[in-house]
Amino acid sequence: MTTTELKHGGNDKPSIWRRSRGWIRKGEDPTSLAELDKSCFKKAWREESFSKLMNHSWFRAWTWHTEANSEALGFLIVEDHSDLFSILRIGVVPGHQRQGIGREMMDFLIQLARNEQIPKILLEVHEFNLAAQHLYFASGFRQIHRKKGYYRDPPGNALVLSKAIF
Ligand SMILES: CC(C)(COP(=O)(O)OP(=O)(O)OC[C@H]1O[C@@H](n2cnc3c(N)ncnc32)[C@H](O)[C@@H]1OP(=O)(O)O)[C@@H](O)C(=O)NCCC(=O)NCCS
Repeated sequence: MTTTELKHGGNDKPSIWRRSRGWIRKGEDPTSLAELDKSCFKKAWREESFSKLMNHSWFRAWTWHTEANSEALGFLIVEDHSDLFSILRIGVVPGHQRQGIGREMMDFLIQLARNEQIPKILLEVHEFNLAAQHLYFASGFRQIHRKKGYYRDPPGNALVLSKAIF
């Protein structure tokens, strides 16, 4: 992962990365992920849901920090299926949005996909969530499908977006 990858945890995979604006850490704490989720989403997932998700081998999560050990201001949750990353959640706490954190997390994931030879990243986004759509389109995602009536609150279609890595 080029010059940005600095520190390694106990296994061979890194657990913390230096990026240009801040730090990205492996997200391993369901309480902290649930708190972040609550501040970013109206319909938040419960802590138990995060604990359950974490038991799956495909679960991967990261948090974004200004300093290596400061509080998390953003998070990213992905299903890792070896032939694709599927983004389940991405959020930046409201007081820190529009400062490039979401973009840095997306860039990180794209770089990770390249490094790990993952050919594709997929995600779904509410048709009314223009902030997130701007971020995804600016990161090179393209719409491949539309799921009619997929969301209930607020009601609306889901746009399925994809980015080819190689
Ligand atoms: C979507 C979200 C993660 C973006 O994170 P962010 O840190 O605010 O995004 P960035 O500052 O990195 O912005 C990157 C680009 O996204 C777009 N963008 C982000 N917020 C935007 C907004 N409110 N309105 C329009 N465009 C926006 C812009 O193109 C921006 O680039 P620019 O600032 O150079 O114009 C954040 O708004 C969020 O957490 N929203 C609530 C949770 C959510 O909806 N998650 C996505 C579910 S699919």
